[in-house]
Parts: sequence; structure tokens; C-alpha cells
Amino acid sequence: RTVAVVLAGGTGSRVGLGIPKQLLKIAGKPIIEHTITVFEAAPEIDEIIVLMAPGHVEAAQQIVDRAGFRKVSRVLAGGDTRNATTRLALDALGPDDCNVLFHDAVRPLLSGRIVRECVNALWSYAAVDVAIPSADTIIRVDADDCITDIPVRAQLRRGQTPQAFRSPTIREAYRLAAADPDFHATDDCGVVLRYLPEVPIKVIEGADENIKVTHPVDVHLADKLFQLAAAQAPRLTDERAYTEELTGRTIVVFGG
Ligand code: CTP
Repeated sequence: RTVAVVLAGGTGSRVGLGIPKQLLKIAGKPIIEHTITVFEAAPEIDEIIVLMAPGHVEAAQQIVDRAGFRKVSRVLAGGDTRNATTRLALDALGPDDCNVLFHDAVRPLLSGRIVRECVNALWSYAAVDVAIPSADTIIRVDADDCITDIPVRAQLRRGQTPQAFRSPTIREAYRLAAADPDFHATDDCGVVLRYLPEVPIKVIEGADENIKVTHPVDVHLADKLFQLAAAQAPRLTDERAYTEELTGRTIVVFGG
């Protein structure tokens, strides 16, 4: 059994609207509906659990009901932090072993290709991350905003989601984290890396369009990317990403 967990417990303070950003409409649908649609359509996914910001669970349930998503088994309230939301999802999974993918609700441009590659990688690895190379140089700074290090860019990646796990591995990592008074992490691979350092975490290639709607400008970017996808959709022959030379630039087109 493979379960997709849609993490929507945040309030989107950096976008700064009155409602959580996952409820914003882009390309005619709330962001979270786009996100769930990708998992609903993915043949590798058997079940979807949604964890929504407390106070908005009813709104998320209505979106699920109206869209008629058949794989969504539950819409629950999330926790105070992203990791607390993951913990609640682990509790909701039940005792049976399964594969679990944790995905940011606010990455609505996820592709079927990425879901498939995550699930396939779980045959060989107990933990899988999704990341892309960085076009920008990444610098390390100190408390005074002065550079302390410029790590070699070829060794750096920008982490995205989903992050996928065999359930015993992520459960054990969170069990060890619960006993640590110094626990701090933002993502789930970070919890495995810290508490189960012997477990290799396989990284599969993400996609530039798999953006996390974080700041106001990202709402416009995501809207443009949906327009681009819609314009190209009739020409897609399968769900794999492909590139096209257009006016000298490589435009990444995606689907699936
Ligand atoms: N998330 C969650 N539970 C939390 C906090 C965040 O499930 N307590 C989810 C968000 O809903 C989002 C994802 O984690 O889908 C990535 O987090 P982020 O972009 O930081 O979302 P917010 O916390 O909503 O944004 P902000 O930090 O601007 O308030």
C-alpha cells in the first residue's frame, strides 16, 4: 500500500492573505485541489490523507467532496509545525507497514513522473528525497550577514517534495526525535538523516516547475506555469517531461 500525505497544516504567513495559501485559487481551482489531483491520478498511489490547518478542515473536506476524489480517506487537522503535522499523519497511517510520500500542499505543479520515480526508488531505498540543482550560487553567512563559505555548487541541490519513505523507517526516526529535547528540523528527510544516519537517502531529480508557493510572486508564477501546461497539454504523448527548443531557449514542458 502506498499512501500520499498532503501537508496543508500551515497558514501561509509569508503570502500574507487572510486565508491559508493552499486555499487560494490558481487556474480555476484551489491550490490544494491541483495537488490532490496529481496523486488521485497517479496509478502508484492507493490512498491520500490530507492534513489541513486547524480551522480550515471543513473547507478542505468540501473541496475533496466537490472534486469527488476517491482516494482521499481522511481530512484531518494538522499540527503547530510541519514536523508536528507529519507526526499526526504517521499516527493516522495505522500500524501496517506501507510506503508513504509526504508532499507540500503548496507544490501544485508536481508531476506524475516524480511520483512514479519516488515510489520506484522505494524498492531499493527506505528513504527518498526530490531535489534539483541550484542555478544560483549558494553562500553560507554568519550572524552579521558576512560570507563564511561558498560550497561547491555541483555538490548542492535544492530540496523539494515529495519525500518518500518505507513507514518503519520514518516512524523510527520520529520516535528517536521525540526523545530528543534538542529536536529541530523542517523537513522529513532531515529527521531520518539526523536520527538514522546509517540509512541512505536516495535523491531523485525534481523539476523547476515543482515550485513551492511561498511568497506573493509565486502565486503569479504558478498561474503562468499552469497556463503553459494547459497550452502544451494536447501535444503531450505521455506523462514524461520533455524539453523543446523554442526561440533559442529550452522550455520545460510537463504533464502527467
Ligand atoms: N505545513 C504543515 N503544518 C504546519 C506548517 C506547514 O503541514 N504546521 C505545510 C504547509 O501547509 C505547506 C508546507 O508545509 O504545504 C510547506 O510549508 P511552508 O511553505 O512554510 O507553509 P506555511 O507554514 O503555510 O507558510 P509560512 O511559513 O509563510 O507561514
